[in-house]
Amino acid sequence: MSELDLPRDLLLGAATSSHQVEGDNRGNDWWAWEQRPGAIADGTRSGEACGWWAGRAEEDLRAAAALGHDAHRMSLEWSRLEPEPGRFDRDAFARYRQILEAARAAGLTVMVTLHHFTLPEWVARLGGWTHANTPLLFEGYAERVARELGQGVDLWATLNEPAVLAWMAYAGDRWPPGQKSLRSAFRAIARQLDGHARAYRAVHRVLPDAQVGLVLNMPRFDPADPSRRLDRWAAAAQDWAFTGAILHALRHGELRLPLAPVRRAAPSLRAALDWVGLNFYGRFAVRFDPTALDAALGRHVQRPTVARGDNDWGQPSPDGMVRQLERLAALDVPLYVTENGTWGDDAHCVAYLESHLAAVAAAARRGLDIRGYFAWSLVDNFEWAEGWETRFGHFALDRETQARTLRPVGARFGEICRARRR
Ligand code: FCB
Repeated sequence: MSELDLPRDLLLGAATSSHQVEGDNRGNDWWAWEQRPGAIADGTRSGEACGWWAGRAEEDLRAAAALGHDAHRMSLEWSRLEPEPGRFDRDAFARYRQILEAARAAGLTVMVTLHHFTLPEWVARLGGWTHANTPLLFEGYAERVARELGQGVDLWATLNEPAVLAWMAYAGDRWPPGQKSLRSAFRAIARQLDGHARAYRAVHRVLPDAQVGLVLNMPRFDPADPSRRLDRWAAAAQDWAFTGAILHALRHGELRLPLAPVRRAAPSLRAALDWVGLNFYGRFAVRFDPTALDAALGRHVQRPTVARGDNDWGQPSPDGMVRQLERLAALDVPLYVTENGTWGDDAHCVAYLESHLAAVAAAARRGLDIRGYFAWSLVDNFEWAEGWETRFGHFALDRETQARTLRPVGARFGEICRARRR
């Protein structure tokens, strides 16, 4: 144990995703989406992003290791690796090999996510995650990646946040394809879970000892007034639609409403996890509102909250994070915090980091099997429909010059990482 009493063998590092950091990532649905006027709140685009593809990944990973990180979570871009159906790109595999080797040479344990929100345009054109073939296509891609890059990967994540993607891209209209259909959203979750189970097995076919998991975003949905039955009901309904139905499916191998119109067995979902990851940003206080028809009759009223425009990451809640880890423990596999972080002024970011790490430490002391914590994010990056204004980076990025400057939150995290090693 060390400062904050973090377990000595807890992996500590930061997380990034391909589209958000690589730059010039033209073959996916997001690149096309960003070009539409008004699609990105601050009028920006991903553009060169953080220049990872062009060569800057290595220096960022070395900078992370120099700070004391001993792990990194990154993602691979399906559209680069399989730019057309069944045609895999040798140069793209070679570039990822270089990046993975640089991470390893810097002493970082690497967690790789196979799909972090972006789809190759050719998959998007089929209908993305609502199309029946997409889970199979994803399985083929996963198997090829395991064969080509298996040696460089320590931990595999199949998908990032199926519910967030479904909500933003299929129920909503701010992410591609912007379908505005609840039916599509729940179908997209069910298909992603199928894709997860298939990719899980595909990676294991190639690498029997691989550690393959899934990353879930699980905000707390708490009743605004716990003594009001209608608030309790709306909070529980939101939680079920966003989280509970997915946990049920993974635990019991069964899809229930709203993931399937009638209860349906999905046995392949059982025993398809070697670990599970929690992305946690905050809590929502849910007030019953009969006009909130698309949100299970609940409105979010927590104050203060971390929000910008339409996007709300919720109220910081270290306790809420631990309660979600406790729920995940029912899946009986090791736990990781695969993303956690905030943006805003330095004092807020440092306090957020310290309070959440202290909560992880306390939970580990109580016996929760937590193996790692990844801060979102290593460097400011392209924050989807928000653009570049919500700066989550431990390093600030100057987009003109690509210069990085360590923020107090990054310096503090480095101190905590180094203290744990002594
Ligand atoms: C998570 C996403 C990640 C980033 C953070 C702020 O939902 O996984 O890509 O956008 O939020």
